[in-house]
Amino acid sequence: MILDGRQTAAQIREEIAAEVSQLKQQGLRPPHLAVVIVGHNPASETYVANKEKACRQVGFDVTRIALEASVTEKELLDVVGRLNDDDSIDGFIVQLPLPEHISEEKVTRAIDYRKDVDGLHPYNVGLTALGQRSVVSATPKGIRELLARYRIPTEGKNVVIIGRSNIVGKPMAMLLMQKPYLQLPKMSASALGNATVTLCHSKTRDLKKICLGADIIIVAAGQPSLLTADMVSDGAVVIDVGINRVEDATQARGYRLVGDVDFSNVAPKCSYITPVPGGVGPMTIASLLQNTLQVYKDRLAVKS
Ligand code: GUN
Repeated sequence: MILDGRQTAAQIREEIAAEVSQLKQQGLRPPHLAVVIVGHNPASETYVANKEKACRQVGFDVTRIALEASVTEKELLDVVGRLNDDDSIDGFIVQLPLPEHISEEKVTRAIDYRKDVDGLHPYNVGLTALGQRSVVSATPKGIRELLARYRIPTEGKNVVIIGRSNIVGKPMAMLLMQKPYLQLPKMSASALGNATVTLCHSKTRDLKKICLGADIIIVAAGQPSLLTADMVSDGAVVIDVGINRVEDATQARGYRLVGDVDFSNVAPKCSYITPVPGGVGPMTIASLLQNTLQVYKDRLAVKS
């Protein structure tokens, strides 16, 4: 069965839009996200355009701050400082990757953790690691939400994550291994956890053997067809985080998007699988909206 991220994200956007219209009825201003983009990386420009569109769909205000790739680190840090101090901005992101001459670590640390809707500031990452309420990195949060909404339990399950990035692999492992910090009557995203997590990466030996023992495989390695059918047990759940552009002369734009999973051969073995596009990508953007609403409410002390 396909885990339809596009449809699930649309449902989340409807829920958020309903909440925003209620806030407006109460005379409150809408949440306001700022997006900083540096340079003209085509993939980043697409992601940022999608984030802006999603904000408008739910009634958020959104401001794009576009800087040339030649911007200095100091100038970018000044922009971050201004956004931290700007009371009309609830949260902001600096789209990654940044040009080589700018330290992503410095920039991420400079963001006020209360406005860090990417959940990438060390303070938010630390809270997530401790299993405490935090702003959770958007991609792992979206995957958790997708599992929750399809009622796919993780308790006691063997979860294999391929990829140890700070944006996906590490926070995903933390979320799925921890004791749920909220026990709600129906299965909610924050009640998912209690999994046995194995985090694999480029130096892992015997990846195939490890994957064959998995109930759930989450692939975030940025390598087309990394996960092949011989690595997947019957009935496994497969989550594909990859978004790779591969040349394709039959497409008007000259490329097509593929994930990290050999989808056509792996899908028949799975109980559930995410497609690319239309799986994790839209869920990531939905999570960014949820994070923006969360920090907005925290700032304005609006009751949920
Ligand atoms: N680049 C790829 N994914 C992301 C993300 O979730 N946030 C930011 N800021 N940059 C990214």
